[in-house]
Amino acid sequence: SILIIDFGSQVTQLIARRIREIGVYCEIAPFQSAGEAFQRLKPKGVIFSGGPASVPDEGSPRAPEAVFTANIPLMGICYGQQTMAHQLGGKVEGGHAAEFGRADVEIVAPSKLFEGVWEKGARYPVWMSHGDRVTELPQGFSVKATSENAPFAVASDEARRFYTTMFHPEVVHTPDGGKLLRNFVVEICGCKPDWSMSAYRAEMSKKIKEQVGTGRVICGLSGGVDSAVAAVLIHEAIGDQLTCVFVDHGLMRLGEAEQVVTLFRDHYNIPLVHVEAEELFLSELEKVGPDPEAKRKTIGRLFIEVFDAEAAKIGGADFLAQGTLYPDVIESVSFSGGPSVTIKSHHNVGGLPERMKMKLVEPLRELFKDEVRVLGRELGLPEAFVGRHPFPGPGLAIRCPGEITKEKLDILRKADAIYLDEIRKAGLYDVIWQAFAVLLPVRTVGVMGDYRTYDHVCALRAVTSVDGMTADFYPFDMNFLGRAATRIINEVKGINRVVYDVTSKPPGTIEWE
Ligand code: XMP
Repeated sequence: SILIIDFGSQVTQLIARRIREIGVYCEIAPFQSAGEAFQRLKPKGVIFSGGPASVPDEGSPRAPEAVFTANIPLMGICYGQQTMAHQLGGKVEGGHAAEFGRADVEIVAPSKLFEGVWEKGARYPVWMSHGDRVTELPQGFSVKATSENAPFAVASDEARRFYTTMFHPEVVHTPDGGKLLRNFVVEICGCKPDWSMSAYRAEMSKKIKEQVGTGRVICGLSGGVDSAVAAVLIHEAIGDQLTCVFVDHGLMRLGEAEQVVTLFRDHYNIPLVHVEAEELFLSELEKVGPDPEAKRKTIGRLFIEVFDAEAAKIGGADFLAQGTLYPDVIESVSFSGGPSVTIKSHHNVGGLPERMKMKLVEPLRELFKDEVRVLGRELGLPEAFVGRHPFPGPGLAIRCPGEITKEKLDILRKADAIYLDEIRKAGLYDVIWQAFAVLLPVRTVGVMGDYRTYDHVCALRAVTSVDGMTADFYPFDMNFLGRAATRIINEVKGINRVVYDVTSKPPGTIEWE
């Protein structure tokens, strides 16, 4: 395996994803606890991530000394390059001209890191993001590639197998980055690329059986991919010791609740309790009014109450199953130490454990979202289900700014279904990360036939993203938008105007509330 030491870069997780794509198991540890992770994992190689700190600053993060003396290959990226150089006796200075974004590197000497990928004398595009830089290399190191602002774009000590890059090989903007990482983990560290999803499935099935024994497991289904994959995997391992509970809050998309029930009951034959709680949720939501946080909190609270009551009805359980993913588990590197600001109170099935005092079964804890999709396919979940865009726990309630009514939700459901239908027809569903309609609490005047209309505005949203943390709006062709708008206005009573949201995240968020 490979250990990745996290120095707080925004893109550390991408290093892990690239390595898993190669078929090699890896874990991320924050620099503060990297020493323990190193002892436990005994990795064949270590990668130092980038990060926002400055090596010359007192108290800036360092890698544990043990990794330098273990006689294994190391790779330092950006801040990782700087701290490695510093810890091995080189010099790092701050305040140089920052090189953000695209840059070209020129290869000046061969290195195992880019053997078979980059050739001496040629230039290749990479993605740089840094301010400080190494000004003196440690003993044994020499320059292998340079760029205009980064004389040490690649520097390495080939004898000790220590490699450093000033650019980020893990991002897609470094087109050959994946090949460099492959060279590092497979050729240099000697890891076998044999980590596969079917091996994971078998191994996890065994682990679930061991953990649960003859106990009973309850699993909340949200309609999303994660909880569904977790449930099917657990059912495969322990059969009917598992009961699924689907709290139907009436805030799902068109036809979605039925799909979940059919899939689980008819296709998989998994015991499922379908709690039809629409009336309860809507009557409570009508009371709370338009405040987004109040809406989110109400939905979270009701969900837990309803779930709890259902669990009691079926006689309780020993374990609670959850679709927790690796990104939720990774301890984040915090420099301020203070609590970060709450932008939105996230709700999903995850609020349950504190309340329910059950042991947790979390078979997806080691996986990234795209790996969960691969596992879902492996388990035979339909492609249409596995490939679905993410959907938030509070559902359509946060896509209906202002007060929630059943009437508004029904209008929104129809508009959303037409929009997604057009996206599918245009072959764009898989190119877009998430797309949905929002029903605005604003009415405008229009004319239809000879009549005056005074109806709602519908906003369309579509973004590209890697993980939902940052996003760009999707640049639809105007003809597409015109087509979707015409259909929505003609087919959905209650909407007479359609607008397209061209906000990126940041400064916007993906959802409107
Ligand atoms: P924002 O709106 O914060 O959304 O940019 C980022 C991603 O998270 C989803 N989202 C949620 N998912 N519970 C969830 O399970 C929530 O409360 C929640 N709020 C937002 C959102 O759909 C997007 O994919």
